[in-house]
Amino acid sequence: MVLGGGRMGSALLGGLLRGGWAVPDECVIVERHADARERLQERFPNVPVLGEPVAADAVVLAVKPGDAEAACRALPEGGYERVLSIAAGITLARLEQWLWPGAVVMRAMPNTPALVGASASAVCAGASVAEADLEWAEAVLSSIGVVVRLPERLLDAVTGLSGSGPAYVFLVAEALVEAGVLEGLDREVSRVLAVQTLLGAARMLAETGESAETLRAAVTSPGGTTAAAIRVLESRGVRAAFHDAVSASADRSRSIGTPS
Ligand SMILES: NC(=O)c1ccc[n+]([C@@H]2O[C@H](COP(=O)([O-])OP(=O)(O)OC[C@H]3O[C@@H](n4cnc5c(N)ncnc54)[C@H](OP(=O)(O)O)[C@@H]3O)[C@@H](O)[C@H]2O)c1
Repeated sequence: MVLGGGRMGSALLGGLLRGGWAVPDECVIVERHADARERLQERFPNVPVLGEPVAADAVVLAVKPGDAEAACRALPEGGYERVLSIAAGITLARLEQWLWPGAVVMRAMPNTPALVGASASAVCAGASVAEADLEWAEAVLSSIGVVVRLPERLLDAVTGLSGSGPAYVFLVAEALVEAGVLEGLDREVSRVLAVQTLLGAARMLAETGESAETLRAAVTSPGGTTAAAIRVLESRGVRAAFHDAVSASADRSRSIGTPS
């Protein structure tokens, strides 16, 4: 049962069905808004779309962090074998407190490329979790992309890197498109070239197995055009700016996750 039929909940359900990991009549999606339920039913015609939780083996909690406590407390005590929460910043300790004694709870931090099946997620386990539970959570999350297993204390770092990361890349894309226009390219041409450059570079990183450093060195001929550009980026502190950005996001995540 997916609880919360917003962007992430529906991306997860879509991933599970697309990947053949679940068949429609094994799934249920629960969404409190009638209009959202109608849209979900159109998108997933064979999946029951309900307004209230029902009995199921497992729950994927995909409501906003502010709704997580009410959603957990509304679940029947002991009614589900496993609970996987993707609510940002909501700790395992809080989830365990809001659910029932001995609840099998896992927590994950995916990112927005989940919407195109290319999420980067980290998952961590609560006190009552066994290996088979974590394998189940990894299978669910792998339907929307890649997943790594980490201790909970590293989830703030994950938020800083991959949780907020797509926004850093969008900012780089904006700047590249603008730079192409400043150099005389038509905006649409500049956009096509910038997007394909990001996609192509990301695919090289993912598919060649080479480090970013090696790939960068391979396109930076001594005294060449790329070397001139890299020198500017380094002298403007771009590397340090990324370090500080990831750190600022992780710090913010830590402060949000600490109840006052
Ligand atoms: N988007 C991301 O990149 C990202 C990344 C990592 C983690 N997350 C986490 O993923 C979770 C979901 O994000 P989202 O962007 O999909 O949020 P969303 O679009 O707001 O979707 C949540 C949906 O669940 C509904 N809902 C809330 N409580 C409910 C309940 N008790 N029963 C049934 N439906 C309920 C909400 O209704 P209302 O409209 O009334 O609230 C909303 O339609 C969040 O906790 C977020 O922190 C998101």
